[in-house]
Amino acid sequence: MSDDIYREIILDHYRNPRNKGRLPNPDVSIHDSNPLCGDEIDMHIRVEEDKIKDIKFEGRGCAISQASASMLTEMVLNKPLKHVKDLVKEDILENIGLTNLGPARIKCALLSLKVLKMSMVKYYADRDPESASKYQNEPGAF
Ligand code: FES
Repeated sequence: MSDDIYREIILDHYRNPRNKGRLPNPDVSIHDSNPLCGDEIDMHIRVEEDKIKDIKFEGRGCAISQASASMLTEMVLNKPLKHVKDLVKEDILENIGLTNLGPARIKCALLSLKVLKMSMVKYYADRDPESASKYQNEPGAF
């Protein structure tokens, strides 16, 4: 696909975000921001049978950070937690489709993945602190 098509997809997700909002009874909620610009993402996740049963995000910030969060929620909905654990930054950048992002823009694109990974660490820590540290220390966790 051309960069123009990817730009359109990003703008569409920015203007019409998927899975935006809050969940009534999330198993885990995490907030983080990009310290360079202050843009923010909150993720709320419900887990059932080791799968992401529901996920919503709230946030404010640039088109890339917010579109990336919207796209990420679609990527992981109904997926096993193992799938989330194995996601790496290349998966997100490939999904966004902009190949020539500079370092600052890469941080925009990866903010939602960072929040998602933090959510998983918290989810495991709340249930079993030992498994959380194992999760956190595995390559690709962040
Ligand atoms: Fe803040 Fe993009 S400018 S995350």
